[in-house]
Amino acid sequence: MVNVAVLGYGTVGSGVVEVLNINKEIIKRNVGEEIKVKYVLDLREFEGDPVQEILVHDYDVILKDKDVKIIAEAMGGVEPAYTFTKNALLAGKSVCTSNKELVAKHGAELLEIAKKNNANYFFEASVGGGIPIIRPLNNCITADEVTGISGILNGTTNYILTEMSEKGAAFEEVLKDAQDKGYAERNPEADVEGHDACRKIAILTSLVTGSQVDFEDIYTEGITKITEKDFKYAKAMKASIKLLGISKKIDGKFYSLVAPFLVKHKNPLYSVRGVFNGILVHGNMVDDVMFYGRGAGKSPTASAVVSDVVDAAKNLGKHIPVEWNEKKYDLGKISELKSRFFVRMKDKGLDDDLMPAIIEAFGDVLCIRAEGVHDELAFITDEIREDEFKEHIAKFEDVYSVIRVDF
Ligand code: HSE
Repeated sequence: MVNVAVLGYGTVGSGVVEVLNINKEIIKRNVGEEIKVKYVLDLREFEGDPVQEILVHDYDVILKDKDVKIIAEAMGGVEPAYTFTKNALLAGKSVCTSNKELVAKHGAELLEIAKKNNANYFFEASVGGGIPIIRPLNNCITADEVTGISGILNGTTNYILTEMSEKGAAFEEVLKDAQDKGYAERNPEADVEGHDACRKIAILTSLVTGSQVDFEDIYTEGITKITEKDFKYAKAMKASIKLLGISKKIDGKFYSLVAPFLVKHKNPLYSVRGVFNGILVHGNMVDDVMFYGRGAGKSPTASAVVSDVVDAAKNLGKHIPVEWNEKKYDLGKISELKSRFFVRMKDKGLDDDLMPAIIEAFGDVLCIRAEGVHDELAFITDEIREDEFKEHIAKFEDVYSVIRVDF
């Protein structure tokens, strides 16, 4: 029997206990022995829940118990999860987590501690919820030079954008509906401003480069400025608008950003609707590989944490190497990155024809019209460096929208 402790009895933590109970026999078969939850750590009481019998409030009880070999950390946030994880690894216990904030910030350091103590730090659930993406990157796509990752990495924003697209509704209205349904937090900032997706693309890019990609270095734009009119144009182009986390290697250097993109129907990410996530990985030999599934939610996320627990249980006392060291990776400067931009601005009519100025600034552009939208000029530029685009667009007044294009 392998004893496990679960830190945090919130949505994910209680999901971990549930998965271990419901799939007890399957998990036993996969590990070769039974996995038993010996403790659950939480500050709260859960009267009437059987978890009360194994509930502890003092982390030291878990840390000092030599029978506990694996810890499932589902607390979220950097502290105290960081200190608890570090101490567990130093004591030779493996830690499995869904905590993207902690992994993005201290992943490399915690992996090194795990290595020195013949333990494992696994974090499958930190990106893409229930979608296997960390293990495939570490253990499967190992014969390739990965040159690009492009992903819908946040379920909340994908739900909001899908509803806006399909119902023609406004951002604020859909956000409220998403909050009422429990898909969005009461404080939605981390999701709608792109911070959550930013940490996830930082983790993926760290794994691909083998070095520390700091999320603070990643240019991040959220979805709060996207309007119903933007979707009308998207429809006219047979496209949708998706919040993407992108990392691409250009001339030997990775460039990373999180931003809303226009995505055409032929792009597999176009079909990723609602709370689902999709991640496209491009390798120089394997070409495109797509990962798709539920990127959030209790059972899918807990399923990924427990898959790590299974892996940790099968490898007790043996460190599984993960290439991610603490040396900082210098991302390419976003200002140098070339993109195509979709722009909407006020049409001032024949008296003040803006087209000559637009052509002078951006060269030939592709003009776009949308049904029912008047008094606007909308166009897509050719590829242009971000800094040049910024310099040119600043010359125009009444710019309603700027969205990058990922056709
Ligand atoms: N808020 C996150 C999302 C949860 O919506 O994707 C999963 O990380």
